[in-house]
Amino acid sequence: MLMIPGPVQVHGRILRAMSRQMVGHRGKKFSEIMKYCVDGLKELFGTDGDVYIISGSGTAGLEAAIASFSGVKRITCVDNGKFGDRLGRIASRCTDTDVVRFEWGKPVDLEAVERSLAEGSEALAFVHNETSTAMLNPAKELAKLAKKYDCLVIMDAITSVGGDEVRMDEWGVDVAIVGSQKCLGIPPGLAAVAVSEKAWEYYSEKCPFYLDLAAYRKKSRDYQTPYTPAVSLFFALEEAIRMIKEEGLENRIRRHRILSKAVRAWAGEAGLELFPEPDEISSYSNTVTAIKLPEGVGDKDLRGTLLNEYGITVSGGQEHLKGKIFRIGNMGNVGKREIVTTLAAIEDVLSRFNACKPGLYAAFEVLREL
Ligand SMILES: Cc1ncc(COP(=O)(O)O)c(C=O)c1O
Repeated sequence: MLMIPGPVQVHGRILRAMSRQMVGHRGKKFSEIMKYCVDGLKELFGTDGDVYIISGSGTAGLEAAIASFSGVKRITCVDNGKFGDRLGRIASRCTDTDVVRFEWGKPVDLEAVERSLAEGSEALAFVHNETSTAMLNPAKELAKLAKKYDCLVIMDAITSVGGDEVRMDEWGVDVAIVGSQKCLGIPPGLAAVAVSEKAWEYYSEKCPFYLDLAAYRKKSRDYQTPYTPAVSLFFALEEAIRMIKEEGLENRIRRHRILSKAVRAWAGEAGLELFPEPDEISSYSNTVTAIKLPEGVGDKDLRGTLLNEYGITVSGGQEHLKGKIFRIGNMGNVGKREIVTTLAAIEDVLSRFNACKPGLYAAFEVLREL
């Protein structure tokens, strides 16, 4: 059982959809599928703007967005986790970049971001749901601040779209990116980039050929992609969007929120400490939870035993957080069954080290809301 923050376990309906015979990507059938996917994604991004689908992982979407709109004189990137750090690395290859750094897991200080914007930035890039620390950054507030300086707003929404509220147009976000293997619940290999009209004011031809969004824009008028797409993944995305419509987006977001709340409630009762430290404008992630490894328990002790004895995979920490935290994803089509099983198994393993109190009933109480 895969309980990591992506790739996620794929629902049988989606797996079956993917096993269909190929269709030609210049034909009517493909365009119909793509139109259905694009229209569905617009709703998930909360935008009336364009959505382009790239065959590639989430990073391909990020690079396409930043490189295609690198006509900005200077970009401010917010780093309070591994993926914020990555944004800065991508941006610095494209244009003058200022990275505003915060300790990973700590909230973003808007005043520090504003100081950077005021020094002449024309764009702001940040991560909405910072998967490495399980913190939800204040997208609305950051976008509002950027607009004060008439900056383009680029948001990594790779692990929020489809699992949490994203309202690009309402918040003033110009460009946002999602990856397929996260809350959309399909295998890795697709990225979607939602783009406002304003972003094109900063278009730069110097972007990489495959990731040039102008080519995707041109082809999107016929609901096609410029190069051969991962057709099977489009079948998967079509089915995933059908499932999202059946569940209802609001219900889906609510399910993600309740599942992550149950994980946090369990952790609190079990005497475990959550890793991120959100302030009033940020919050705990609704799609992944990061918990500190208790004293005396190694990463292998927990994650190794979980895998060997229960066949359950949860994530460890990344970079300097390796061996310090573990992360439980609740993205996509995860339900009560997966959450309860995972928490019970972790509780079993940790209690062998006297590192955990019984906490399951606290999770049950929250899960009854579902
Ligand atoms: C917030 C965030 N941004 C970017 C990425 C990178 O996406 P990918 O590995 O699909 O390239 C991830 C992957 O976990 C992520 O969680």
